[in-house]
Amino acid sequence: MQNTITTPFTKLFDCRYPLIAGPMFLVSDPPLVAEVSEAGGIGAMPSLNWRTSEQFQKAIHEVKKLTKQPFAINLIVNQANFRCAKDLEVCVQEKVPLVITSLGSPKETIKRMHAIGSKVFCDVTTLEYAKKVESLGADGVIAVSSGAGGHAGPISPLVFIPYLKRHIKIPIVAAGGIATGTQLFAALALGASAVQIGTRFIASNEAKVDELYKKAILNSKPEDIILTKKISGTPLSVIKTPYVEKIGTELSWIEQKLLKNPKTKKYVKIMRNWIGSEKLKKAILGPTYTAVWSAGQGVGLIDEILPIKEIISKIINEYFENANKFKQS
Ligand SMILES: Cc1cc2nc3c(=O)[nH]c(=O)nc-3n(C[C@H](O)[C@H](O)[C@H](O)COP(=O)(O)O)c2cc1C
Repeated sequence: MQNTITTPFTKLFDCRYPLIAGPMFLVSDPPLVAEVSEAGGIGAMPSLNWRTSEQFQKAIHEVKKLTKQPFAINLIVNQANFRCAKDLEVCVQEKVPLVITSLGSPKETIKRMHAIGSKVFCDVTTLEYAKKVESLGADGVIAVSSGAGGHAGPISPLVFIPYLKRHIKIPIVAAGGIATGTQLFAALALGASAVQIGTRFIASNEAKVDELYKKAILNSKPEDIILTKKISGTPLSVIKTPYVEKIGTELSWIEQKLLKNPKTKKYVKIMRNWIGSEKLKKAILGPTYTAVWSAGQGVGLIDEILPIKEIISKIINEYFENANKFKQS
């Protein structure tokens, strides 16, 4: 494997490759995170993968035992996450090098993490929000595009990356459907400073999810990925299983109405998140016929389960094959 790819992102974190293994609810754990960071990228995990802030802090200790390289934590910063302040406190105490925020205002997170010299990148799906987080002092954005696993954005990465690049100055991390080195090369050519990859790492030896989930990723086509609002209230990319087809993808009219009402919105979101996360948990750890597996359109480019180090070395080698090809032509 070749040595390094240098971008504004790798300079910020002093890592070898511009690649984050995206935080994944109930999938990312300390061994997976550490393995990615050891391989030259940055492993990330959501604080909500643990039931309490104390367990979350122990998980960070586990990561630190396994690697001295930088890693990232994802914080959901909206009102529905009661643990946000406590988990942020843990990130400050543990001097987490990078916090990735989703869903709400990152203001407090930026203030606290900057005070200890750490960085904050924010998930964005629109230019308006990217400008907002840049004005709040974010160090970078994760451009969550269409085709992404988890909560996908609405804009094609082919447009979203250069569009953001025209209007904001902070580093952009491309996310959505990326699973190969050619796509990494393309993302950097479009103006990204790094990529964030999720689905590819579910089909890894290290991901502790049910084998059927991994197999479903290998066997699915991009056409099998659909967006459903039934899990969290916002569009989530999932594999079209018979169960997902049976329950449909839209919220009931009552829920839609309650979500529009400012007084009831928060409570509906909390309830929907709770029901949805219980469904995901069931599917990840031991699927029944009610399996709901989140994955992005990159499934079409994933055909083997490999150790994380091999996944990353394949991506990097393919990146350099492209770089050399374009140098010669
Ligand atoms: C199963 C699954 C769970 C995810 N959970 C989270 C999460 O908790 N927080 C978050 O910010 N992103 C989450 N994501 C999004 C990823 O971090 C990443 O941005 C996305 O997977 C990139 O798209 P890709 O899967 O097409 O590579 C999740 C993605 C998947 C597939």
